[in-house]
Amino acid sequence: MKVILVNGSPRANGCTYTALKIIAERLEQNGIEAKIFQLGAKPIGGCVACGYCSKAGKCFQNDLVNEVASEMDTADGLIIGSAVHYASASGSATSFMDRLFYSSPASRFRMKFGASVVSCRRGGATATFDQLNKYFTISQMPVVSSCYWNMVHGFTPQDVYADKEGVRTMQVLADNMAYLIKMKAAADLPLPEQPPRAVTNFVRADLYEE
Ligand SMILES: Cc1cc2nc3c(=O)[nH]c(=O)nc-3n(C[C@H](O)[C@H](O)[C@H](O)COP(=O)(O)O)c2cc1C
Repeated sequence: MKVILVNGSPRANGCTYTALKIIAERLEQNGIEAKIFQLGAKPIGGCVACGYCSKAGKCFQNDLVNEVASEMDTADGLIIGSAVHYASASGSATSFMDRLFYSSPASRFRMKFGASVVSCRRGGATATFDQLNKYFTISQMPVVSSCYWNMVHGFTPQDVYADKEGVRTMQVLADNMAYLIKMKAAADLPLPEQPPRAVTNFVRADLYEE
């Protein structure tokens, strides 16, 4: 059983990483392998909507997106962490998540557990949390919750450790994700049948006819 954690902050050892490390340690205590990936300070290209991935099954930009995508095939859960940048996820985290989910087949994420974690100095945490959770809720991923919204506050790792409620929120999140992963494995149920695919764009062609 394995959970992938992605640090979407450019600061490799900052506050977001500290929150993810607390979660990873707790997951390991629960017997779940935890693997942290760092987006780092190098630019992560955004989705250019070229459609390459719909044919190739992977993004043409061969970077960490494709690496994490392959890892997800053998993972049970995904946790994305981001620093809050102007009340949103970092540019890198947004580009990463856009491309990870857009370039992946639905089966890669379906009924795997998702959670997001955000770190801010002062404000914009819940907006960012909502933004990141939307990747999961369009991908049939049950979102794991904790005893508060998954946020820590600070500018340094020391600040994060001093945010005792934030630390506890991360620990409870890890325990809940481990519990749900084990519960799913114990149940060992086949995934539900899906209704036939339907795509309805909100374009009324008849309105443009002469
Ligand atoms: C470009 C930029 C924008 C930021 N915007 C916000 C913000 O809107 N609200 C906030 O509380 N902190 C903001 N911060 C501060 C960071 O979110 C905060 O210090 C965070 O805990 C840093 O996490 P990290 O160490 O993982 O990068 C911003 C920082 C940067 C670099």
